[in-house]
Amino acid sequence: MTRTIPPGTKLVLASHNPGKLREILDMLAPFGVTVVSAAALGLPEPEETEDSFAGNAKLKALAAARASGLPALSDDSGFCVAALDGAPGVVSALWAGLGKDFAPAMARVHREMADSTDDRAWFISVLCLAWPDGHTECFEGRVDGTAVWPPRGAHGFGYDPMFLPDGAALTYGEMDQREKHATSHRARAFALLVKACFAR
Ligand code: IMP
Repeated sequence: MTRTIPPGTKLVLASHNPGKLREILDMLAPFGVTVVSAAALGLPEPEETEDSFAGNAKLKALAAARASGLPALSDDSGFCVAALDGAPGVVSALWAGLGKDFAPAMARVHREMADSTDDRAWFISVLCLAWPDGHTECFEGRVDGTAVWPPRGAHGFGYDPMFLPDGAALTYGEMDQREKHATSHRARAFALLVKACFAR
């Protein structure tokens, strides 16, 4: 049975990615929960050993819930390119290297797409809520679009400047971030989570 998060709940945000933290904090703001980040609790960042977004999202949320004794929310997400059979996908963060520099990661996507005529790309986010007893609830959101080159815009994070959502004139990197937050893969996953777990 689906578990709900009542107002007043203390929730751990199981992410060490500042871009995601900013977006998820914005999304949680209307729901009256107290949010503490995994970093603020001194929790380590678990190694992402699964080969699916849902697997890694669960692993991160469960690790934080068990270590803190509190419900925890994680996001596992990535940028997927049709011409690369869905890569970088679950290893999107790894392509940026230890320095977490996404300029070379975007250049690698462009280089590996070579002269492919298929520029379809998509973002996926799986949000997972986990409780200390091992119960989990996961929700997936996806936005389709195209990979553009050169990257455009300085907003957002990660691969945002090279993603043009279908029907949009601006990349995620050029968009007013409120617009991205309202329509993104993460926002879509969050809408499902709200419907299931913040039912009031
Ligand atoms: P992970 O979920 O920690 O494995 O990292 C996901 C990676 O995917 C991030 O480091 C970004 O590179 C990329 N990513 C996920 N969501 C977004 C987004 O909304 N914009 C840009 N890049 C994203």
